[in-house]
Amino acid sequence: MSLASAPSNRPDPATAGFPAPPARTARPVRRIASLALSAAILVTGSLAVTAVSAPTPAEAMVPPGAIGATTPPMGWNSWYFFNNNITAKAIADQAAGLATPNANLALTGTGTHKSLADLGYRDVSIDGGWWTGSGSGRDASGTIVPNAGFLPSGAMSKAVTLSNGTTVPAHALNTMKDLTDYVHALGLKAGMYTDTGTTGCGGQRGSGNNEAKDVTTFADWGYDWVKVDHCGGTPTKYGTVMADYKDWGSLTANAKSSAGVAHPLALEICEWGTGAPDGPWVWGGAASRTWRTGRDITGAAGYGTTSNGGSTWINWSQVQGNFNLNDHPSNEGPGQYNDPDYLLIGPGFGDNPATGQQQTHGTDTTLWGLTPDEQQSYFGMWAIQGAPLVLATDTPNLTAASAAIVGNESVIAVDQDSAVHQGQKVIDNGNVQVWSKQLATAGTRAVLLLNTSSTSQTYSFTTQNLGLNGTATVQNLYTGAGLGTLSSTGSKSFTLAPHQSVMLKLTGATEQKPETVFAPTATGISQKSWNGSTWSGWQTLALGTAGSTGPGSIQGEPAVVSSAGGVDVFVRGTDNALWANTYKNGAWGSWVNLGGTLSASPTAASLGRDRIDVFVRSTDGKVYQKTFQQTPGASDLPAYWYDVKWTTSWVGQDAPNATTIVGAPTAVASLNRIDLFARGTDNALWQKSYVSGEWTGWTKRGGTLSSSPTAVSGHPGQIEVFAALSPTGNIGQLSWTATGGWSSTWYDLGRAGTGAPTASQVGDRINVYIRATDNTLWQWYRIGTGPTGTWQQLDSTTKLTGNPAAAAHP
Ligand code: GLA
Repeated sequence: MSLASAPSNRPDPATAGFPAPPARTARPVRRIASLALSAAILVTGSLAVTAVSAPTPAEAMVPPGAIGATTPPMGWNSWYFFNNNITAKAIADQAAGLATPNANLALTGTGTHKSLADLGYRDVSIDGGWWTGSGSGRDASGTIVPNAGFLPSGAMSKAVTLSNGTTVPAHALNTMKDLTDYVHALGLKAGMYTDTGTTGCGGQRGSGNNEAKDVTTFADWGYDWVKVDHCGGTPTKYGTVMADYKDWGSLTANAKSSAGVAHPLALEICEWGTGAPDGPWVWGGAASRTWRTGRDITGAAGYGTTSNGGSTWINWSQVQGNFNLNDHPSNEGPGQYNDPDYLLIGPGFGDNPATGQQQTHGTDTTLWGLTPDEQQSYFGMWAIQGAPLVLATDTPNLTAASAAIVGNESVIAVDQDSAVHQGQKVIDNGNVQVWSKQLATAGTRAVLLLNTSSTSQTYSFTTQNLGLNGTATVQNLYTGAGLGTLSSTGSKSFTLAPHQSVMLKLTGATEQKPETVFAPTATGISQKSWNGSTWSGWQTLALGTAGSTGPGSIQGEPAVVSSAGGVDVFVRGTDNALWANTYKNGAWGSWVNLGGTLSASPTAASLGRDRIDVFVRSTDGKVYQKTFQQTPGASDLPAYWYDVKWTTSWVGQDAPNATTIVGAPTAVASLNRIDLFARGTDNALWQKSYVSGEWTGWTKRGGTLSSSPTAVSGHPGQIEVFAALSPTGNIGQLSWTATGGWSSTWYDLGRAGTGAPTASQVGDRINVYIRATDNTLWQWYRIGTGPTGTWQQLDSTTKLTGNPAAAAHP
C-alpha cells in the first residue's frame, strides 16, 4: 500500500499571476492540498453509479429558468434599501423611479432624458419582508398572504410620463396583482421572493411544503420570476440543496395560474454558493437564470429608511470578497449567470447626495460607505464579470454622481454583451488584477485594471500579456477618451489610486489562441507550444525518481487540462500511481502523488475554474474518478473562503455493460457538463455524462475502435470524438451538437497513427495530434465545421516514445 506525498505549495489565489489569455474554458488558480490513496481503496472504490437516462439533443441550451434573460438581468431589488420595511407603495415608487426620465442621465434621440429603464434596468424585485408577519402567513385556504402593512387599502402609485411620451396613470394598490399590473404598465418586469424552507429569513413563513401552491399563487398575481432564498431550507426536502432547487426549477418553468393558463416563471437561486455536492454554478443552470455565489455583500444593520442616517454600511473588503467568490467563468453562459449580489451604489449607501462622497452617521465621525473610486470599481467589476446589474439604491433620488457610474452605457454594454462570456482574471500580482472579457465582436475585449491594494499602484501591459497579437485601439470606457494603441511591444502604463480601476475597450487585435502539446520522449515529458504564430522548440519536464520525487517514467500518455490558472499534467507513473504537476508562471512545480493503481493512461477534464476531474482505469478494468475542487462550505463563509483540495476517495464509474473498458477513458468538460467516453469490450464507443450535477449511465455510441478515444469541446453544446478505427487504423471522427445530436457515421480522416490520437480545440479550430507510424508528431486541423481538414508534420526529427496529449490555453 503506497501512501501519498506531501502537498505541493501552489501560489495563493489572491497573489498568483499568470498572463495567459482568457476564453470560455477557464479554470483555476488553486492549490493541490493533498494526497494519495491506497491501492486498496482504488480497487474497491464505491460504485456510485446512477442509472439515469442518457443526455439527449433535446437538452436545452438555455434552461427553462432563464426565461426572459438572454443577457444578465438588470433592475432594482428592495432588500438593502428597505430591509423588511417594505410596502407595495414603496415598491411602486421605486418602479416609477426606474421608468421616469432622469435629469442625471443622457438624452434620448428626441431630447428627453433617458430613464434607468431605458438603459436596461427593468426588473423590479420584491425581497424579504412582504409577508413577514404573525400567524401562519396563509389564509384559510392555505394561500400565502402579504403581511398586514404591505397593501394598505386605497394606496395609490404615481402617474409617470415615460421618455417616449406615454403617460402611465396612477394605479390603486389594493392587491398583489395591482402592483404587478402597475409595474408591467411601466414597461417593467416584476419579481417575487420566497424561501425553500417552511420558515424564511427572519422567521417569516417560507414556501416549504407549499411550493406548487405558491408558484400558482405567484402566477395568479402576474409575477415574471421568483427569487427563492434558502434561510429555512435545511434539512432539505429532497435530500440535497441541488435537488430542492431543481424541483423549484421544474415547478416555476411549468407554472400555471389557478385557471390553468401557462405562466412560466424564471427562477433565481439564493443559497450563497454553499450547496453540496457542488456549488450552484455547476447545477444552477439546469433550473435557474442566476445563483448567488457568496453571502450577502453586507449584513450591516441599518437601512435606508431606519436610524443610521439613511445608509447601509458597505465597505471595500465586502465588494472585493464577493467579486472574488463570483469567479466561475466556465459556468456562465447565455441564460446562466453567476450572481455576486446587488449594487450598493448611490443614495442609501454612503453616497452623500450632495457630494457623492462617504458620509458620517449622527455623532459617529467614521466615514462609512465607499469612496467614489470604489463605487466606480464596484460597477466595473460587476460588468466585467457579466453579473446581474441590480441596483439597491433609492431610484427616484439617483444623484448625478451615482448616475455617472450606473448610467454609463459603455460599461453596461460590456455587462450585457451578447456573447455572455464572464471576464477572466489574467493577471494578479497581489496589488493589481487585470480582468479580460471577450466581447461578441471578434478581436474585441473589455479589460478591467483594478488596484486591489490600499496604496497607489502603477502597472503596464502589452497586448501579449492579454493573450492578443497585433495592435489594439484602446478606449477608456469610464471617460470615453481614446487612449491610442497598445501593441505587443508598446506597453501602456496606468497609475491607480487605492481601489481605483480603469475599464478599457480593445479593438482590432487578434486572439493568440495558444496551445501546448505534451508527449513522452526519451528524457521525460516534452512540451511544444504554439503562441498564435510560431511553435516553440521542445522543452522537457523531468519525471523525477520513480516512487519518490516523481513518476519516474510514464506509462502511456499524459493527460492535460489548461486554464488561465495554469496547465495541469497527469500521468501514470512506473509505480502505476497517478502523478500530477502544474505549469504556472512559466515554471513547473513538484510532482504530487495522487495514489491509486492505474492500468491505463489517465484523462482529465476541468468543469470550472475551481474543479478538475481525473478519470482512470484501475486493475479491475473499470473507471474511477478523483476530483479537485473548492469545497462548498455549509455555514457562514468568510469573505475569502477557498477550501480547495483533492477528494480522498475514488468514485467508481463502472464500465459499459458492467464489464470493463479497453484502453484509457477520455473526458471532456463544457458548460456545466462532463462527458466521459471509453472503448468497450465490444470495441464500440461508449459515453457517460455528468450533466448539471448528476451522472447518467453508460450509453453506446457505436463504431469499431482500434485505439482509445479522445474528445474535445470548445463550445458548450458541441463535442468531437476521435479514435483510430478498424480495420484501417485511420483516425475517425464522431460529432455531437446539443441541437442536432450525434452524427450518424464516423468520418475517416485518412491517416493512421501509432496508438491513440489527442485533440484540442481553440475557438473554431480543432487540432488532432498523432504519433505517426514513424514516431514523429503530426497534426490534423480543421477550422469551422465538417470533417474536412488538413494534415501536417510538426517536427520531422524528434521521436515520440508514447502518444501525445494537447491542451489549448484559454
Ligand atoms: C438573505 C438573502 C438576501 C435577502 C435576505 C432577506 O439574507 O441572501 O439577499 O433576500 O435574505 O431576508
